[in-house]
Amino acid sequence: MSFQFAHRMGAVPESFLDTLFAVSSDPSIISFAGGLPSSELIDVEGIAEATAGVMADDGRSALQYSTCDGYLPLREWIAERYSRRLGIAARPEDVRIVNGSQQCLDLVAKIFCNPGDVIGMERPGYLGAVEAFSIYEPAICGVPLAPEGGPEIGAFTRLLAEKNPVFFYGIPNFQNPSGTSYPEAVRREVGTLCREHGVPFYEDDAFGELAFDGRPRMPVKRWAKEYGIVSGSFSKTVAPGMRIGWLWAPEEIIRAFDIAKQAADLHSNHLSQMIMHRYLTTHDYDAHLATVRRTYAANCRLMSDLLDDLLPDWTHTRPEGGMFMTAELPAGVSSMALFEEGLRERVAVMPGGPFFAGGGGDDCIRLNISTVGGEEIREGMDRLVRAARTLSS
Ligand SMILES: Cc1ncc(COP(=O)(O)O)c(C=O)c1O
Repeated sequence: MSFQFAHRMGAVPESFLDTLFAVSSDPSIISFAGGLPSSELIDVEGIAEATAGVMADDGRSALQYSTCDGYLPLREWIAERYSRRLGIAARPEDVRIVNGSQQCLDLVAKIFCNPGDVIGMERPGYLGAVEAFSIYEPAICGVPLAPEGGPEIGAFTRLLAEKNPVFFYGIPNFQNPSGTSYPEAVRREVGTLCREHGVPFYEDDAFGELAFDGRPRMPVKRWAKEYGIVSGSFSKTVAPGMRIGWLWAPEEIIRAFDIAKQAADLHSNHLSQMIMHRYLTTHDYDAHLATVRRTYAANCRLMSDLLDDLLPDWTHTRPEGGMFMTAELPAGVSSMALFEEGLRERVAVMPGGPFFAGGGGDDCIRLNISTVGGEEIREGMDRLVRAARTLSS
């Protein structure tokens, strides 16, 4: 059969995800390639209690249609947490609930981007964002990440001044894939520049609550102000299967966003929103977060130490939070070749290429630290060393 799909479908880069799923379903392979949070850290009992409570007290309302903006008590909870954690006043009317923050990537691009418009983003950048944006046929312009974290300011300034992007998309906290964060001075500079040039800064904060030291980092929105768009998610902190994320944006953007969201799905899963709110208000969320942070911090430290000891000719990032780090391979070693050789040794790494819109990145890999325990990290690193030795011999 030959269907006539829309031209925009041809603009989406070929996904590496099918290959990764095949890899992660093979139990003999230790995978550093995935991007999931730890299943073991999901509070199944707590969520079951919250679900039972919602069904018993409010089942009919939870199972009915609801409004596009999202469950008000949950938006109030999110706004209050921003105000308390960051000292920046957020109002519930500026917050929208989405079906996972991935939906924000789609809808923000939908309301801002005509074919051929420029979207700026970090290079390397989040693969899922490249895929979501590509549907709207933009010219994606990557700004290289500086070694100390955040976009290189010279290239960032030139992009804003010369290319008139519809928005710049970045991950200031514990970026996917690099694990790096913007230093505070860079946040200030980037936010101020966006405001001066009238370019929205779209800040994807999927990992902001996963700082290993628990200390909140100021969002770029603090300086971008009315040009600041923030998305957040409970996927990495509570449970990704509940598909609850949010958008925090200025009123004018919220108005356009509501139109796009209503047309896309009427509203996010109401039952899931009510369960999430019940869970957050009846369980000790901060204690749960402390456990997640402690576990990921220990995994990250172990992975870093082993890389330093066993593969001293590799360089790697030193994340202060989140779920990922990247490693740069020695000259001449290709990440695709390492992926293939790794599979022969029963260890999987994520090649860097897919994170570089427009090509490049074969000299680095992404390593995940959330789905593997200490023993697996040790054994997986031994296997990786064998694969690396085979390639360099
Ligand atoms: C940087 C980043 N943003 C957004 C998402 C989407 O997450 P969700 O839709 O589950 O909130 C992910 C998922 O891995 C991510 O890594």
